Amino acid sequence: SSNESAAGIAHVYRGTFVHATYHTAVEILEDRLLGVDTEGKIAFIGSGKEVDRLSQKWGFEAFAVTQLGQHEFFMPGMVDTHIHASQYSYAGTALDMPLLQWLNMYTFPVEACYKDLEFARNVYTHVVKRTLRNGTTTACYFATIHTDASLLLGQIANDLGQRALVGKVINSYPLVRPVVTPRFAPSCSATLLGHLGEIAQNNDLHIQSHISETKEEVSLVKELFPDYDSYTDVYHRHNLLTDKTVMAHGCHLTDGELKLFRETGASIAHCPNSNISLCSGMLDVRRVLNHKVKLGLGTDVAGGYSPSMLDAVRRTLDTSKALTIQDTQYHTLTFEEVFRLATLGGSQALSLDENTGNFEVGKDFDALRVNTDAAGGPIDLINHGEGPKVESNLLASSGDDRNIVEVYVAGKRVVPFVERP
Ligand code: GUN
Ligand code: FE
Repeated sequence: SSNESAAGIAHVYRGTFVHATYHTAVEILEDRLLGVDTEGKIAFIGSGKEVDRLSQKWGFEAFAVTQLGQHEFFMPGMVDTHIHASQYSYAGTALDMPLLQWLNMYTFPVEACYKDLEFARNVYTHVVKRTLRNGTTTACYFATIHTDASLLLGQIANDLGQRALVGKVINSYPLVRPVVTPRFAPSCSATLLGHLGEIAQNNDLHIQSHISETKEEVSLVKELFPDYDSYTDVYHRHNLLTDKTVMAHGCHLTDGELKLFRETGASIAHCPNSNISLCSGMLDVRRVLNHKVKLGLGTDVAGGYSPSMLDAVRRTLDTSKALTIQDTQYHTLTFEEVFRLATLGGSQALSLDENTGNFEVGKDFDALRVNTDAAGGPIDLINHGEGPKVESNLLASSGDDRNIVEVYVAGKRVVPFVERP
């Protein structure tokens, strides 16, 4: 028989797979066999009933297939499109002032500590381990201005097996890419923005920043950059809006600015925990999606106090429901839509969906093995036999890392983590 994949089969899993596709927010694949090749890519997806034919075709032993349990399923790893690794040390505290004061009082003094590499190593190891444990297989990190500490974050993510975009850095690990990272317009001169745009363009790099998080910040940008049409125009005129750009927040963008996002292919990282915690605003995600602007979810640690993407899912639904309370005509986001935003939507927002985001043959196997009935877990399955649609919804509303029993990145199990020689 002729195999489409040159690499051999390393693992085969049988059970339920729940994922988003480009045309269906949540697709449920029951009793499937999924084969992962030795390069960590999904080699085939077939019917569980065809295990004998598939094992012959692909050359694996039927007895070596990993069978999922009754309340288990695989879902794609979640994508945190915006998280400050450097702020993890004070996550869950210090949310008692608005953004610009908060930055001066808490953020900048802490970020100065990253000139100390041992301080950096400690925090960065914790944040990578914790987010992996919570099911974040891809993270788009802000580090600090310190090159050595940023390089270290890239190394730690790679060693612990997390896919990451890291700013500021230029480094080359298989799982890690650099991202050009102006903090936000108020902390940059036009000259600096211009240089960063040039670097990104010349090297085809990702770009991340913040935009229109608070009204006060929007006014400040208007003052600092009086000759530009809008906050978005400040980035756009310095070539910082591309299809590899992700901008955090965007709570107060105008229709004209969203149009510019659409035209350039730039995306928005929706950070609902942070938006509420710092009283910044409520992003109208429906409006962004109606503009056909790419959007993923972000934890925005430590403006957001939770490093869990399941929290970002919940807060996205909460914010959408708060908007519905204010306007009963509002088209509330559904659980299915938000599930897609947390997985495939995030990969699209980071322009990584050629290789990640869902279970398509040829993509990397970035996956969470979920058990909604995990021993000691937070959920009671009262209505057994509800099926994976209900159980994935249950995970999103009430589950936590105890329900995420295994995490895979590029086919390799990274949770539970086993030190490799
Ligand atoms: N805007 C500029 N810097 C930051 C930051 O560190 N966190 C948040 N939430 N917004 C910002
Ligand atoms: Fe942020």
